[in-house]
Amino acid sequence: MEVIIFENESLVAKRAASMLADLLSIKPSAVLGLATGSTPIKTYQELIKKFNNGEVSFKDVSTFNLDEYVGLKSDNKQSYQYFMREQLFDFIDIQLDNTHFPICLNAKENQQVAENYEAIINAKMGIDLQLLGIGHNGHIGFNEPSSSLASRTRLKTLTRSTIEVNSRLFEAGETQPTMAMTMGIGTIMDANHILLIATGEGKAEAVRNAIEGAISASCPASILQMHPHVTVLLDKNSASLLQ
Ligand code: F6R
Repeated sequence: MEVIIFENESLVAKRAASMLADLLSIKPSAVLGLATGSTPIKTYQELIKKFNNGEVSFKDVSTFNLDEYVGLKSDNKQSYQYFMREQLFDFIDIQLDNTHFPICLNAKENQQVAENYEAIINAKMGIDLQLLGIGHNGHIGFNEPSSSLASRTRLKTLTRSTIEVNSRLFEAGETQPTMAMTMGIGTIMDANHILLIATGEGKAEAVRNAIEGAISASCPASILQMHPHVTVLLDKNSASLLQ
């Protein structure tokens, strides 16, 4: 595991975007695993800048997002499909047909959706680079503590703590979903290269547990210690509890 600590979150985003762009210059048809949440927004802004400067093209890229809320259509502002269009896809030359989400409008269909998602990833010969954030409790995707470290794409009920942390993103009157479809930890571990980014003091404990703690389902991100090619980009606040 390669851990790189930067002075601030802008530098984290710049490095993450450069790593993604470097991959696309070698392999223009790369398969990217993408994350939502606050952390990657700056990285996506850096990628848009690179696209506008002609440094990178996404026209042959395929993407698989880690997760999507159950029951939300793509035009729902809270859906991760909407988020990705608003933060990245609408500003680059990616073909929307090549972007994938584990969309499950009816919870009863979760198994079919999950199997299908894994099958499409396999048909693309797997994910070249998976971008990850980390939850305050060490979750990756929506794999909450106690998730099987070998899990595949499936339906997960969100923990109370994740629902509370994410409630900041919902306005009064908006219903906050309590279930999501997420790539499993085993699915994430199949990626060729994993790029975890974390910023801010609030992530310091999760980062310490993930990097220096015992490998345990109580901190799902700790399984990344077993992956042969992981890069962790941190700002100094999220790295503050590392030895
Ligand atoms: C998002 C995702 C989550 C987030 C995590 C951190 O697709 O899979 O695991 O990466 O909850 O979220 P932020 O970046 O908002 O702190």
